[in-house]
Amino acid sequence: MSIFLKIMETVVQFVPDQKPDQLIQKTNYVGRPIDRVDGQLKVTGEAKFTAEYALENICYAALAYSSVAKGKLKTLHTEAARQSEGVISVITHENTSKAKKPILLDPSGESRGTAAMDITILQDEHIYWNGQPIAVVVADTQEQAEQAAALITAEYEAQEAKLSFNKEKEDAKTPPRVMTEPTKVDIGNAEKALKMAACTTDQLYHTPRYNHNAIEPHATIAAFKDDGNLVIFDTTQMLYGVKRTIADMYKLEPEKVQVIAPFVGGGFGGKGSVWFHTMVCVMAAEQTGRPVKLALSREGVFRLVGGRTPSEQRVAIGADENGKFVSLIHTGVTATTEHNDFPEQFSFPARHLYAAENIYITQKITYLNTVANTFMRAPGESIGTFALESAMDELAHRMNMDPVELRALNEPKEDPVKKTPFSSRHLTEAYRRGAEAFGWKHQLPELQRDGEWLIGQGVATAYYPYYRFPATVRMALYADGTAVVKAAAHEMGMGTATVQLQHAADRLGLDIEKVSFEYGDSNLPEASFAGGSNQTASIAAGIAATAEKLLKSLFDEALKHKDFALHDLDFEETEVRDGGIYSRKDPAKGASYQLLFQLAGKAYLQAEASSSAPLELQKYSMGSYGAQFAEVRVNKITGEVRISRWVASFDSGRVINPKTAVSQFRGGIIMGIGMALTEETFFDERTGRIMNPSLAEYHVPVHADVPHIEVLFNDIPDEHTPLGGHGIGEIGITGTAAAIANAVFNATGKRIRSLPITLDKILEE
Ligand code: MOS
Repeated sequence: MSIFLKIMETVVQFVPDQKPDQLIQKTNYVGRPIDRVDGQLKVTGEAKFTAEYALENICYAALAYSSVAKGKLKTLHTEAARQSEGVISVITHENTSKAKKPILLDPSGESRGTAAMDITILQDEHIYWNGQPIAVVVADTQEQAEQAAALITAEYEAQEAKLSFNKEKEDAKTPPRVMTEPTKVDIGNAEKALKMAACTTDQLYHTPRYNHNAIEPHATIAAFKDDGNLVIFDTTQMLYGVKRTIADMYKLEPEKVQVIAPFVGGGFGGKGSVWFHTMVCVMAAEQTGRPVKLALSREGVFRLVGGRTPSEQRVAIGADENGKFVSLIHTGVTATTEHNDFPEQFSFPARHLYAAENIYITQKITYLNTVANTFMRAPGESIGTFALESAMDELAHRMNMDPVELRALNEPKEDPVKKTPFSSRHLTEAYRRGAEAFGWKHQLPELQRDGEWLIGQGVATAYYPYYRFPATVRMALYADGTAVVKAAAHEMGMGTATVQLQHAADRLGLDIEKVSFEYGDSNLPEASFAGGSNQTASIAAGIAATAEKLLKSLFDEALKHKDFALHDLDFEETEVRDGGIYSRKDPAKGASYQLLFQLAGKAYLQAEASSSAPLELQKYSMGSYGAQFAEVRVNKITGEVRISRWVASFDSGRVINPKTAVSQFRGGIIMGIGMALTEETFFDERTGRIMNPSLAEYHVPVHADVPHIEVLFNDIPDEHTPLGGHGIGEIGITGTAAAIANAVFNATGKRIRSLPITLDKILEE
């Protein structure tokens, strides 16, 4: 997503390639397992989430949904709803105020848009998917709004819709790019090399639709103030995206729109673009002249927010008699809609994980009449590693090789596609640690039993690319040695506030208690969005740039004073520590902030700076890597799969906070367990209706489904990144489903190539 490169005028302050970050070597807080700074607020219920804000005179909105997938609204019956108790307004396309069509989020960075779909709803009679809002009811209470919305009925002029992935995939098209990458990679002649290879595997893999189920359902509160300014509380991963999209749609000056995303209860990509509930809520606030809250029900999230599309992927690998790859092929199809355009990047892992003389990689997309598909934790990489890493296991089994060895044997020396060096890659080391902790030994399938339980072990590689985007940060330093960091960052449970405070404290040489962080508000400077596992690195670069500017200006101000003890010192020769600026060579030389401010004659100083564009990505192949080790127990009689052990070993650069990081990795792996075993969206191909829009019928893993997950990491800094770290939010889910499928094969001798691995597939003869 190069989108922000174009949006922001960047000042080159922090260029990782010019000088490695000083804080990689020497830190106090960075690297320590500090407790979450927001932990107490959360466990005591004091942390406020969007839907919890109580605004004066607020009213509540609920939606009525279309029951056809494509066509036109013929008649809407809203009379009963209008008569219903407490109803203030029923808004439909017949009485709505006009809004501009939103600009679509384009992951390739071509547009400045951030909308999930480029259509307007409640503006005309068009229906684009089954579940599209056809009316919004505003009432005095939530219950009254929902009751009235349930009374709305409609007649449609239905048109034939494209709903069957299996049927439509035959006509799939090759998109011009996948994210910012060219769609196709064609090195040598992979098909020919496959035919001539000593040993091969060539299989199709299938993954189903999946839906987002963050613990906090999406919600918006919109309020127009007396001065015409609009305040929006929103569950978003992209504050500035909401601000821009809404300002554009409602023809407001962007500075008149303030978006507040306080604590967010998980996003995973589902809150990474602007969805219709936000737009509709603003529309309702405008029309009723009152603050409106639109909090989606769990069903509402299924109807309005897309997830992963289904995929069909082919992975073929050809190896010589020693196991060295001569051919690697990864192709396939995913679905999108005509109103967004997002080919989920399942082919990305194959571009970077293995050396092969001949490589052929490409993706196709097919267009369906559904709600837009969207980012969903490692979108693409999660399903892509299922296919690729299952295929690795299939080949290893055919060659009677240890799958860990097969991977080590084909570890590339440089990026196999880009031909650039890796900035930092120690995957083999991660495998070594993981194998040791797990007690990995190569064992043939169907050999281990415990009564009616068949036991198996599986392994798979995890991979997620490194991203960084420019971020602007404001910082204030006070004479009493306290500091405030300000940036429109997002805290969705990852530990953003905690790790950036650790960082800022070290950057300024202060105790962590002396530093505070203001975030979650679009009135603060534009930091990066929270997605693509970029936020920590991006904001870290912003803080580094701003701290340098701030300290330099304090130093320069103090220099003006004739008594300043550091006159013969160059700022470049100083370092911060113990609440002051000191010479690096002569520890006795220097001054506390208190003294510096006294000399400068100021009570505080404030600075704002932006980090550079991610130039490191042009020179290096960068990513996080890992090895997932799973042990499963499969019941021979019922086909039930239980996961009994898990060790995950990551190579993700330097870890900023082992405590919050382990939590991130575990969360990803748990989401992967759901993807592998229990989650699946049931989609009625006759009507386009999602049939299981609730947690009772869409099964996410619960505690009893998850064993203790042991997480290890190399903790080897990458000197080309801020603080030496790589992203860790999404990699946990990658490789997880393959490790489970490989373990199920090892237990049962059954290779399941279609997710989720349910008991019917295991019991099938
Ligand atoms: Mo992530 S799928 O970019 O929140």
